[in-house]
Amino acid sequence: MLRISVAVTTLAWMSVSAAAQSADPVPSIVEAMQTLSGKGAKHRPSGAKGQCYTGTFVPSENATKLSSASIFQATSPVLARFSVGGGNPKVADGSKVANRGFSFKIDNGGRGQTEFVMVNAPINFVKSPQQMLGFLQARLPGPDGKPDPEKIKAFAEANPETTGQGRWLANQPIVGSWVGVAYWGIHAYTLTNAVGAQQVVKFKMSPTGGAVGLTDEEAKGKPSEFLVDELAGRLASKAPTSFDMIAILGRAGDPTNDPTARWADEDARPTVKLGTLSITAVEKSATCDDAIFDPMNLAKSIEGPKDDLLFPARTPAYAISIGSRL
Ligand code: HEM
Repeated sequence: MLRISVAVTTLAWMSVSAAAQSADPVPSIVEAMQTLSGKGAKHRPSGAKGQCYTGTFVPSENATKLSSASIFQATSPVLARFSVGGGNPKVADGSKVANRGFSFKIDNGGRGQTEFVMVNAPINFVKSPQQMLGFLQARLPGPDGKPDPEKIKAFAEANPETTGQGRWLANQPIVGSWVGVAYWGIHAYTLTNAVGAQQVVKFKMSPTGGAVGLTDEEAKGKPSEFLVDELAGRLASKAPTSFDMIAILGRAGDPTNDPTARWADEDARPTVKLGTLSITAVEKSATCDDAIFDPMNLAKSIEGPKDDLLFPARTPAYAISIGSRL
């Protein structure tokens, strides 16, 4: 979500360096993201461009075999936001390098509220907050107002796993529809059913209308903004706007601590369809912008990973960020 380059002053660069000395890296991470996306800006420093929607989630019968969470027991309302990655609110919708984000709250405001902040890649670009800080610091402009390509190269060489998400995205077609691409929850979650049986899973949202990919040439022919209109057209014509929520089943010994790595044979694993999430209407931006999507806010019987350092860094980062943009 972080492919951004905006000239900043030497002063801003120095203040980030000072803040980075503190023990908890999260405030420094957010500060670095804000520096890169435009200090003082009111847009998000990641997923800056996006649109808010409402929808519904209809659980499938099999879901309760894995989890007794209330969202799997009845149809629930959904609040969702699709985004184009990075901190530039004017990024072209046909960008090749940016990822696409899908944040949603199921049963928004209800007792079983469950939130996910997903992207259209099965892995993240860093595995820990410290590595994220290093990734960002390598991209901060120096005293001349420009990032140093040598620093970026040296960081990538010393942290090869941080290049995996970009490589994965580069091998995919350009996203032609926010509802025409799969999104992953990336982290490993644990589901608990009514008799206490537990299953480690990764979440994937799979578009029911199939993938809509553009070649580089096709994307160049598109206006800078086409994703909102594409989805509006689907809503008007009742074309598919849904995703199957899929649980990819983990096996004993699968690591749960590394969001930069896929499980062995992950695409060939058995899966369980947990339900169908449908986007049904455009929602005013303020409804999504005035609150965060909090990946740690999960209904009972859905738990995030305990040994993944990145997972618990997300909620405080989003909280700091919204504090500066409201
Ligand atoms: C698997 C890891 C991650 C994924 C998939 C991810 C994805 C996203 C997405 C899709 C958004 C846009 C949210 C929206 O539409 O409202 C976002 C925003 C953001 N992300 Fe992440 N993110 C990850 C980890 C992190 C971490 C570890 C941090 C910092 C420690 C972070 C910091 C932020 C911030 C500050 C925002 C802006 C939030 C706001 O102002 O509301 N992210 N992220």
